[in-house]
Amino acid sequence: MIRIIYSKTAEEAGINGADVITAQLMVKKNSVLGFATGSSPVGMYKELIKRCADGLISFKGVKTVNLDEYRGLAADHDQSYSYFMHNNLFDHIDIKDENTHLPDGLAKDPEAERARYDAVIESMGGVDVQVLGIGNNGHIGFNEPADFFSNGTVLVDLTDSTIDANSRFFERREDVPTQAYSMGIGQIMRARKIVMIVLGKGKAEILERAFFGKVTPEVPASILQFYPGEVVLCADEEALSVILEKHPEAVEMP
Ligand code: GLP
Repeated sequence: MIRIIYSKTAEEAGINGADVITAQLMVKKNSVLGFATGSSPVGMYKELIKRCADGLISFKGVKTVNLDEYRGLAADHDQSYSYFMHNNLFDHIDIKDENTHLPDGLAKDPEAERARYDAVIESMGGVDVQVLGIGNNGHIGFNEPADFFSNGTVLVDLTDSTIDANSRFFERREDVPTQAYSMGIGQIMRARKIVMIVLGKGKAEILERAFFGKVTPEVPASILQFYPGEVVLCADEEALSVILEKHPEAVEMP
């Protein structure tokens, strides 16, 4: 089931996303949270930091797994997703560093790294709430458009459109890694709840295709139409513009 929650602004979408995580931590202090990178969840992370500082929530018992990591970047590289998570969340909340997990971008043997990351997720008993964004081409995590849905952790060749989109964070386009490890679509589908944060006009078309178009691995996020639990989509007005135009009845307004 998909709940599409309207937010006027990016800030509001972040607050709505933080509400889902807060509710989860209230009922289960030792939750397993799946986190995502990209610009979209940053506002939600800011709100979580604030709530943690205010004593409303605590991450002391929480374990985290991240969706993905670039292959070839060290954890302390300023464009690695490990660095991103520390900078945008982990360093500012009361989480234990040993309870945070990402794929190792420098692993020598990709097969072994995929198996290791699968085992990490398995050993935690799966993910309680998985945070997602969506790529311009409909990717979730780094699961790019393909002719199949992946299951466990994958090593992905990034598409030109993703490399272009992510080059804004690097000095030169050539610096963007061409491969990444990603949690597989099957692993994402096995999370017990999903919160997706989507912001900006640039995502409006793909968001409508993902939730109202054909379910196909060419639009990886479209598989969420078959998600057995609850997907809470927290999107701002710009990202919802096409859905609001074509399917206004599907959107929960405040
Ligand atoms: C990257 C991440 C995705 C994320 C996407 C969108 O490619 N691997 O998990 O959803 O970026 O990022 P943004 O939120 O900046 O648009």
